[in-house]
Amino acid sequence: MFSRIAGTGHYLPEQCLTNAMLEQRVDTTHDWIVERTGIHQRHIASNGENAVTMGVAAARNALAAADLETSDIDLIVVATTSGDRAFPSVACEIQAALTEHNIPAFDVAAACSGFLFAMSVADQYIRSGTYRNVLIIGTDVLSRLCRPDDRNTIILFGDGAGAAVLQASDTPGIESTHLHSAGEFADLLGVNHPPRGSEAPAEELSEAWMYMKGNEVFKVAVSKLSELVNETLVANNLTPDALDWLVPHQANLRIIKATAKKLKMPMSQVITTLADTGNTSAASVPIALDVAIRDGRIKRGQRLLLEAFGGGFAWGSALVTY
Ligand code: ACO
Repeated sequence: MFSRIAGTGHYLPEQCLTNAMLEQRVDTTHDWIVERTGIHQRHIASNGENAVTMGVAAARNALAAADLETSDIDLIVVATTSGDRAFPSVACEIQAALTEHNIPAFDVAAACSGFLFAMSVADQYIRSGTYRNVLIIGTDVLSRLCRPDDRNTIILFGDGAGAAVLQASDTPGIESTHLHSAGEFADLLGVNHPPRGSEAPAEELSEAWMYMKGNEVFKVAVSKLSELVNETLVANNLTPDALDWLVPHQANLRIIKATAKKLKMPMSQVITTLADTGNTSAASVPIALDVAIRDGRIKRGQRLLLEAFGGGFAWGSALVTY
C-alpha cells in the first residue's frame, strides 16, 4: 500500500504588505530586500483571519480538488507553530469547523519544515493500512511573531495556508520522505512563548518575538539542504535528471538557487512563489505545490522533490510522483 496526493489547495489573505510599505516602517529598501531575498510582498492575516480560518479555507480547496467530502477524511494532521492557543490544537479547531465526525486531529510543530513532517506522518498511517484519506495542512501566521520594528524578520515572513489530501493507492505517490532535526541550533532561530497573564513585566513580553541570526541560519540551510536532496536521490537510486520539478520551501531565493544548482536543475524547473508570498513557514511548500498544480505546470505522473528547512532546526524532503 502507498499514499498519493489526491488533491491540493491553498489560501492567502487578501491584505498585502509590500516592500515599499516596509520602507516606511524600518530602515530598509525594496532593492535590498529583492536582491537579498527575492521577496516583493507578503500576504498578512487580518479581519479575524488566523491559522485556523486559513487552514480551513485551504483544506476545503484541497478536498474539492480531491473530489472528496469532509466525511471521507480519516485523520487531520496540521503543521503549524502559530496557533492562537496552546490548546485546543489548531487541528482540533479545524476538525470542528470541517466535520462532525470525531476523527483524530493533531498538530505537528516543525516550523517551516512542518508540512514535510506532516506528510511523512500521514504517509506512514496510510502505508500501514490504518487510514485511507488523510488531510494534511500547513498553516502559519508568522507575521504576528515578528517584532514590528525588526527589519531582520518582518521583511521575510507572510501568512497563509496550504493543504493536501493523501489517499491510499496501489501505486506509489509518496515514494520516500526524509526528516532531520538538530536542536543544538536553538539560539540561531526561535520564538519564546510570551509569559502568560497580566502580571508579566513589559521587558519579558518584549522577548516573545522571533529572534533570528539570519546569515548563520542561511549557511546551515544551504549546507543541510544540499545533503538532503542528495540523500533523497540516493535513497531512491535516482539522478537529478529523473526529477521534473523542485518544490522548495520559500525562505530565500538565494537558498533555493543553491539547492537547484546542487541538483543541476534550471530555475525553469523550480517552483517559486516567494516574490508574492514571502516565507509562509509551514504553508510555503503546499502553497507552491498547489499554485503550480492549478496553473498546469505540475502534471499527473511527474516526479517532484519537495524540501524545507527551518526553526528547530528541522528539515525534511519528500520524493513524490504526482
Ligand atoms: N534591510 C537593509 N539592510 C539590512 C537588512 C534589511 N532588512 N537586514 C540586514 N541588513 C544589513 C545588515 O545590517 C548588514 O549590514 P552591514 O554589512 O553594514 O553590517 C548587511 O545588510 C548584511 O546583513 P546579513 O544579515 O549578512 O544579510 P544576508 O545577506 O545574510 O541576508 C537574510 C539576511 C535575508 C535574513 C538571510 O540571511 C536569510 O534569508 N537567512 C535565512 C533565513 C531563513 O531561511 N530562515 C529559516 C526559515 S524561518 C523558520 O523556520 C521560521
